[in-house]
Amino acid sequence: MTLLRSAGHLLVESVTVRSPSRARRALGDQPVDLRSDTVTRPTAQMRAAMAAAEVGDDVLDGDPTLRELETRVAGMLGAADALWTPSGTMGNLIALMSHLRRGDAFLAPEGAHVLDAELGTAAWLAGGMPRPLPHDAGPGRVSPGAVRRAAGAPGPYYTLRTTLLCLENTHNASGGSVTPPEQHAAVVAAARGSKLAVHLDGARLWNAAVALGVPPAALTVGADTVQVCLSKGLGAPVGSVVAGSVEFVEEARRLRKMLGGGIRQGGVLGAAGLLALDRVDRLAEDHERARALAAGLRERGWAAPEPQTNIVLVAVADLEGTLRRLTEAGVRASAMAGQVRLMTHSDLTDAHIAAALERIGEVETGRTAYAPAPRDGLLRSTTSRAPARPAGR
Ligand SMILES: Cc1ncc(COP(=O)(O)O)c(C=O)c1O
Repeated sequence: MTLLRSAGHLLVESVTVRSPSRARRALGDQPVDLRSDTVTRPTAQMRAAMAAAEVGDDVLDGDPTLRELETRVAGMLGAADALWTPSGTMGNLIALMSHLRRGDAFLAPEGAHVLDAELGTAAWLAGGMPRPLPHDAGPGRVSPGAVRRAAGAPGPYYTLRTTLLCLENTHNASGGSVTPPEQHAAVVAAARGSKLAVHLDGARLWNAAVALGVPPAALTVGADTVQVCLSKGLGAPVGSVVAGSVEFVEEARRLRKMLGGGIRQGGVLGAAGLLALDRVDRLAEDHERARALAAGLRERGWAAPEPQTNIVLVAVADLEGTLRRLTEAGVRASAMAGQVRLMTHSDLTDAHIAAALERIGEVETGRTAYAPAPRDGLLRSTTSRAPARPAGR
């Protein structure tokens, strides 16, 4: 195991830790950061690839590394073409702007990121009237019947036109819940039957594919556009990709520029994205650790359901107080859907999970042996923030 110190953080480079107790001691007083799978640091290999990336001017006439990334992601998603974007929020917004006319209604499962965590850009910038659908087909999932009913029949001229269904797989606010291919296909068929376009927010589509043991393209069937993230779980410092038809990508390039997302020597960022794609299979480790974390929480009396992917959501009586006590004990968590969210990611080892559970046990009994050193800038910044700040990621 290689341990590196960087800006007050302990970086554990090797994932396999044979002796959790030894590694746990090595963690010392470092907080275990389970707020999000976006807190990962680029690997040394990524940093080297970024430094060496072949680049062009992507706004002018293309960047070879970004192009390689886009072509590879389009292939993985079964799409004709794809476009790199600086963030998932921008990728979703570009898709919604291309699908919606001002005043069109769009459907999305309750708690969808496009509804609750993108500053209302779907309405503000894409002009859509949001219509949240209840999860009547399981956590994070809507049924074909619900889509048909919500789409309705065309009404008199003064009624809303419903033109888009926006799906999310995995569904973040439902604890990383997965929609399997058959359910995805049935819902898409219902949308198509109701003349709706379909956008899939696949920020964590990789996690869904790994959890189900299917290729990502099996989960995009019938969608007009798909957004996937490279900076969640896969460890890239930045970047998402939005995919669809050749015509869509042509328009998406214009919209990206309009939104300020044209990055000239983008290959420097794309190089990290290419290496991130090599890390999809290792998401299985994050899922395994999330299950171990949930099991340990249950043993300690927490109501932690079995996670399907890398998100553990736990209902607690006192959200703010619990988050504060966790932080004080050296475990960083976030608030999501009124619950405590703990996420596993590629910068964690078994030792981090063991240490987190040990500290959480201490939270429960009201004792804590965790005494952060005053020089620990990371923890200071955590404790000085409002602890129950809702997570948008
Ligand atoms: C489901 C989902 N969609 C979209 C996004 C937005 O991604 P970004 O933070 O890159 O804008 C997130 C962020 O976590 C997400 O969880």
